[in-house]
Parts: sequence; structure tokens; C-alpha cells
Amino acid sequence: MHVYLNATSYEGPLEEGNSHAQIFLDEAHTAWVVKSVTSSRLGITHGRALFNEFVATRVAELLGLPVPQVAIMAVDDPLLNAFPELRTPASGSFSAGLHLATRYHQGITLRAFRTAGVPELAQRKVINKLDANGVVTFDTWLCNPDHADETELGLYENEGNLLFETTRPGELRLMMLDHGQAFTGDWHDRADGDPVRRLGSWPTRLMGHYEVFVRGRWLNVTSCVEWLAQIQKVTLADLKRIVNEVPAAWREEIPEGEVEKLLLYLLVRATTIEKIVYQEFATMPERLRRGVTHP
Ligand SMILES: Nc1ncnc2c1ncn2[C@@H]1O[C@H](COP(=O)(O)OP(=O)(O)O)[C@@H](O)[C@H]1O
Ligand SMILES: [Mg+2]
Repeated sequence: MHVYLNATSYEGPLEEGNSHAQIFLDEAHTAWVVKSVTSSRLGITHGRALFNEFVATRVAELLGLPVPQVAIMAVDDPLLNAFPELRTPASGSFSAGLHLATRYHQGITLRAFRTAGVPELAQRKVINKLDANGVVTFDTWLCNPDHADETELGLYENEGNLLFETTRPGELRLMMLDHGQAFTGDWHDRADGDPVRRLGSWPTRLMGHYEVFVRGRWLNVTSCVEWLAQIQKVTLADLKRIVNEVPAAWREEIPEGEVEKLLLYLLVRATTIEKIVYQEFATMPERLRRGVTHP
């Protein structure tokens, strides 16, 4: 069951990100990262960012993947009047209403590790390394290129979206953040869009940050296939139940028929991922294959 919360105080902005997420506290003084419905409309997803983030995060949760809890948070006028900057574009153009909240977790992002040098990560104890295979398989299913993908130039993007939570001293726990770009972000419904990238023909390659996981000797084809088996158990009824939790205000720009089309496509795509996984492992350059375990 989803959670409805009330913002009771405002803590300040997050350091990074295009959606200008802000930190609010709820009645229990728990900190949440909040994205406004207006920031979703202004972004590149054609008004789908909050829908994508809510649905993808709830599905990830259903699968047992490491994601922060997602909730629906009401922000009211008295709070916005106390912090008028929240109404400005630089702070997410908040207005009174329902916004998307994810539970704040203290941690170190992959970007911070990249800056410090990835070998530093290899020396740390990550308690859920196999979950990296879940990240890669899940992102490939839902076509989320936003978890630190490798660009054609060999650079990495969006490394802030993988967080190593500092749960206990000396231990890290990998978490996936930011699913606003799931389902290719805008579901590729643009009439003028690249025909290869339309719904129904999403990229047939592994997504997510597998290069660093391979270097860290975390990637494991057996684990990917196990995650896939979980993914294939997700039913249309599961997806519809989650979609029905999405507030109407977050779906205003999404034609009704498209949601149904998307959900049916996700079920079909789940049946194609195994081939993608094996193909990618088979053709992976030798330098990346070190440490890959074949069944
Ligand atoms: N729940 C969270 N806990 C801790 N840090 C977070 C959380 N959500 C986001 N962040 C940090 O803030 C950054 C921006 O948030 P994100 O969800 O990625 O929004 P954007 O859509 O703007 O990229 C993330 O890359 C991450 O470093
Ligand atoms: Mg992000």
C-alpha cells in the first residue's frame, strides 16, 4: 500500500539533479527527497517523470530490489509561503498539492567514488553486491538509461543515481535512485522521434552501470537470470494495481490508452531480456569479462 504524507517542514535543496528535488520532513521528522509535479511537466519526459519514478520504484520494491521507499507527499500553501523560494523554477516550482517523495538515505554516490577512484570502492565491503545484477536486469527491462550508463565516448553519466548507503560503519549497501527516466523517459511516443527508439523497439542491450560492476567482479549471468525469473512473475494485475496508486495530477499529460499499451509492452519485453543478457555476456570485450561467471 502506498503512503500519503504531509510535509511539515522544509530542510533545503539537494546538491545536484535536474528535477530540483528538495528535502522536506514529514510529521515524524523523517527526511524525504521531494520532486514537484511541475518539475515533471517541465522536464524531457513529456510530463511522465513522476509517473515513471513512482511506478518503477514500486515495481522494484515488489521485486525486492534496493530502492528507497516512495510516497505521495502533500505540500500546502502555509509551508510554501514560509519558504517562497520553493515556488521558483530553481527550487522546483512547487505549488500546493501532491508531490513525489522518496525516503532520504545517507550515503556515497558512485560519482563520489569515481572522483575518489573506483579502486577505493573495490576495497570497501558492499553487503549486497549481487543486487547489482538486479539493477542491470531491471534497468534493461524498464529501459532506464539513467543509472550511470557508458556513453559512446567511454564516459559515465548519472553516477549520482547509484547510492552506496552507509548503513553500518565499514559497510556499504547499493541502492538505485531516480527512476524518472524509466520507460525511456517519454515512452518514445514522439511522432518525430527516432523510429528505432519507439515503444515496442527499445534498445536490445544491457543497461545500467555494468562496467564498474564487472570491474568490481560483481556481475554474474546466473544472478541476472534469477532476477529475470522474478521479473517474469510480475503480472498485469500487479502493474495495474501500482498504476492505480498514481495521483491523477501526475497523469494529466498522459493519454489513457498509452498506459495500457505500456503495461502490455512491459510484459512482452520481460520475455526478451534473457536473450539480451546472454548475447551481451557472449559479446562483451575480454577486458570486461573478467570475473563473469557463466552458468
Ligand atoms: N532518496 C535519496 N537519498 C539520498 N540521496 C538522494 C536521494 N534521492 C536523490 N538523491 C541524490 O540527489 C541526486 C538528485 O536526485 P535524483 O532523484 O537523481 O533527481 P534528478 O531527477 O534531478 O536527477 C541523486 O543523484 C542523488 O545523488
Ligand atoms: Mg538523477
